[in-house]
Amino acid sequence: MCGIIGYIGFRKASEVILQGLKTLEYRGYDSAGIAISNEKGIEIRKGAGKVADVSNSLLFTSLNGKIGIGHNRWATHGKVCDKNAHPHSDCSGNIALVHNGVIENYFVLKEELISKGHKFKSETDSEIIVHLIEENCKSMWLENAFVEAIEKLQGSYAIVLVEKSGQKLFAARKNSPLIVGIGKQEYFFASDIPAVLSYTKKIVPIEDECIVIASRSGFKIFNFTGTKIKPKIIKVKWSSKVAEKGGFPHFMLKEIYEQKLALYNSLSTNVSKAKKMIVNAKNIHIIACGTSYHASIIFSILLEKHLKKNAKAFIASEYRTIANPDKDVLAIAISQSGETADTLQAIRFAKSNNAKLLALTNVVGSSLARISNEIVYLNAGPEMSIAATKTFSSQLAIIYKLIFENLEQKTIPKLIESALSHEQKIKSLAPKLKKKNDIFFIARGLSYPIAMEGALKLKELSYLHAEAYPGGELKHGPLSLIRSGVPIIVLAPDDESLPKIYGNIKEVKARGAFVIAFTNSAEIIKEVDIAISIEKTQSELYPFLMLPILQLLAYYVSVSRGIDPDRPRNLAKSVTVE
Ligand code: F6R
Repeated sequence: MCGIIGYIGFRKASEVILQGLKTLEYRGYDSAGIAISNEKGIEIRKGAGKVADVSNSLLFTSLNGKIGIGHNRWATHGKVCDKNAHPHSDCSGNIALVHNGVIENYFVLKEELISKGHKFKSETDSEIIVHLIEENCKSMWLENAFVEAIEKLQGSYAIVLVEKSGQKLFAARKNSPLIVGIGKQEYFFASDIPAVLSYTKKIVPIEDECIVIASRSGFKIFNFTGTKIKPKIIKVKWSSKVAEKGGFPHFMLKEIYEQKLALYNSLSTNVSKAKKMIVNAKNIHIIACGTSYHASIIFSILLEKHLKKNAKAFIASEYRTIANPDKDVLAIAISQSGETADTLQAIRFAKSNNAKLLALTNVVGSSLARISNEIVYLNAGPEMSIAATKTFSSQLAIIYKLIFENLEQKTIPKLIESALSHEQKIKSLAPKLKKKNDIFFIARGLSYPIAMEGALKLKELSYLHAEAYPGGELKHGPLSLIRSGVPIIVLAPDDESLPKIYGNIKEVKARGAFVIAFTNSAEIIKEVDIAISIEKTQSELYPFLMLPILQLLAYYVSVSRGIDPDRPRNLAKSVTVE
């Protein structure tokens, strides 16, 4: 949800910032902008559209200067247009700022600032911050003006501010991610680590409610109560190549193919402490959103069935309304980014009610990692495509490792490989689905959350309506939607649910549905319009065979409809607003 970047050092800032913005584009692509401080003052270029287009037409890299800030927007307050693009400057043009988050008390502050004569150029909540700082500067130095402005803000924010003299960058964070990359006499601010990997692997994740001030000779961090904080430097191992497509047309396809390696890495993660927490837990609440929620459902089923635990999966944004955590609850948050606001709020609620916290996340030093008692990292490597693929299968791999003793490390990655061998057949399904209005997925047991994931991927990437149902639920309502030619995608592995899903196929065929099945049952292959036969494996392991097939299906339907699957409309990775 918005990418922010800042640079101070000896390089051409506009080039560093543009590269960072391209890497951070998965956080928002409604508009892009850059502000560079140089001998002319602060020069701002910004506009609606994707960063490459805006930068090409406004010539971002023609700006000279060695300090600056940049922004990719995912619109919250104010429509998508040039004037609402960041950076925003004050009335005098002495300072400019980029912001990720939502300022909840912006309206009151804006009225106050207007009454004091400030002229606003945009409809955003973000612009009030820069005017607030300008107002404070009437009676104090910039550093104090910045700190006092931050004290007045309610909501969530990661902010970077550049000043006209070009000597310092000012930053602050509360409930929105911010990291500092450390170079030699140069510092990088960013919403996420991949944005700075080409320049440095020394990273300081900034703690919540902290302020950072950087000059070329150093930087200082202090919290909102003014206490100095010692920076905790982590050395990341990720290569800068993660931000490149490596010969694939899209990050999504690259990441679907990276799953085999990602799973090897995930499965070699040590989960013994987390396992102990689970064994000792009386009640388990698993909290997540979107794709990660589908992993939570599988987790809860396996915990109930195989470890006989009292476990429930919760959609994070619903948690505070419907859950009742206490000291006997182990709250497990699953989040690729570790920054999803809904998940963080839910987990804070669980913590405030004395629950213990376990996190499954991919991002070292993320907000989720910092508030949890124990963390299991997915080790899947950064995910650049908006749609989660390899991180979802990595979440499943960790879950399986937590549940099953003696899990054979090689079996799961091999299943992924087997699924990917069907790529061409899956691709050939895309023309048959791309003009359909409604597509239904049916499955049973552990395949049902995978069907939910298949439907989510298809709708978010192809803009077609897709829904998943447990096969047995059709007759309780959705069957009335099944008419001649309506596509039904069936996951039918030969597990205990096979006879029942066979019956469901009969029901929809009798109503003229066009049925595509992923199966290894000879009876089902005979019954359906198109079958892709999958290999046989243990019944619990079918999710690893079905998942890549559905990811590829969503990918190819998206591409066949002329959509960029890496950048679906209205979406952003890492949803840092509630
Ligand atoms: C869909 C997708 C989202 C995320 C969700 C949670 O492809 O990626 O549904 O799964 O926004 O994100 P994390 O896992 O970062 O908390």
